[in-house]
Amino acid sequence: MTDTVRDAAFPVARPRRLRRGPAMRRLVAETRVLPENLVLPMFVKEGITERVPISSMPGQFQHTRDSLRAAALEAAEAGVGGLMLFGIPGHKDERGSAADDPDGIVQAALRDLAAEVGDDLVVMADLCLCEYTDHGHCGPLMADGHVDNDLTLERYASVAAAQAQAGAAVVAPSGMMDGQVAAIRAGLDRAGHTGVPILAYAAKYASVFYGPFREAAEGAPRFGDRSGYQQDPANAREALREVALDVAEGADMVMVKPGLAYLDIIAKVADSSPVPVSAYQVSGEYAMIEAAAERGWLDRERAIVETLTSYRRAGAEQILTYWATEAAHLLR
Ligand code: PBG
Repeated sequence: MTDTVRDAAFPVARPRRLRRGPAMRRLVAETRVLPENLVLPMFVKEGITERVPISSMPGQFQHTRDSLRAAALEAAEAGVGGLMLFGIPGHKDERGSAADDPDGIVQAALRDLAAEVGDDLVVMADLCLCEYTDHGHCGPLMADGHVDNDLTLERYASVAAAQAQAGAAVVAPSGMMDGQVAAIRAGLDRAGHTGVPILAYAAKYASVFYGPFREAAEGAPRFGDRSGYQQDPANAREALREVALDVAEGADMVMVKPGLAYLDIIAKVADSSPVPVSAYQVSGEYAMIEAAAERGWLDRERAIVETLTSYRRAGAEQILTYWATEAAHLLR
């Protein structure tokens, strides 16, 4: 305490009064993360008999249909708000045919999840083609090697209908094609799924932090990268434009992705979005904290809670995180 503070003639602000003990800090905390804010991304793979650990994401697995059901049940019991399902098909081709196959792995797993946990949490389906195409891009290609935007929209509309038919309560397009929300809305409505909302990956950046996901979902591009359709990390204004377009096309919720390096984008989107804002704590964010904790360089549980709190503080209402089940227990 300096003399200046002690001798002041006027009341001196002492913010530390509100930090004096855990009870006081709890009372004045502005931000809380609840289990129901969390969404667990999960991977289901065709043709395996046992779940396969993902080496770059310790604690995460490519699931069989059975192990997926068991993990979904654990998430539901922990109070997690939702699941986001990714499928890895046995067969890939140029147009990603397995994605809208009613008997394909994702549709089968969606039926399982809807039956097992569909009343307790929101079962969502990631809607993209990169896990289903043999070239690993998010839609069929043109002769010049670029993704054919409008042909991809037709594919997405068909995938959305197949996912909704299988029991997805939400479809979540992540391919960043222009017009994808409108095309999917029309496809869902035509197929009678007028009540299925769209969670649009609206501001999705071409990020290095998707690295481990490429092992998890086996969807790495065989050539080139995704900079032709995902956003440039340098741009913030562009994110607001993408969000506005998706909302105008009928998005019921919007997502920012990744999160940690894009908290400014989450905050800007949360300020202006008329619909709920989600954010995705992506595979690379998970991997870097797990790796540092494994070396004893970071307290793992505190890092999980602090990063999730930063997402909420920035304004995200739903947080996709691979730690969802564990964090739901930590946050109780
Ligand atoms: C596919 C997709 C990706 C992720 C979610 N959906 C990878 C990519 O766009 O390259 C990344 C998720 C993560 O890293 O956890 N469109």
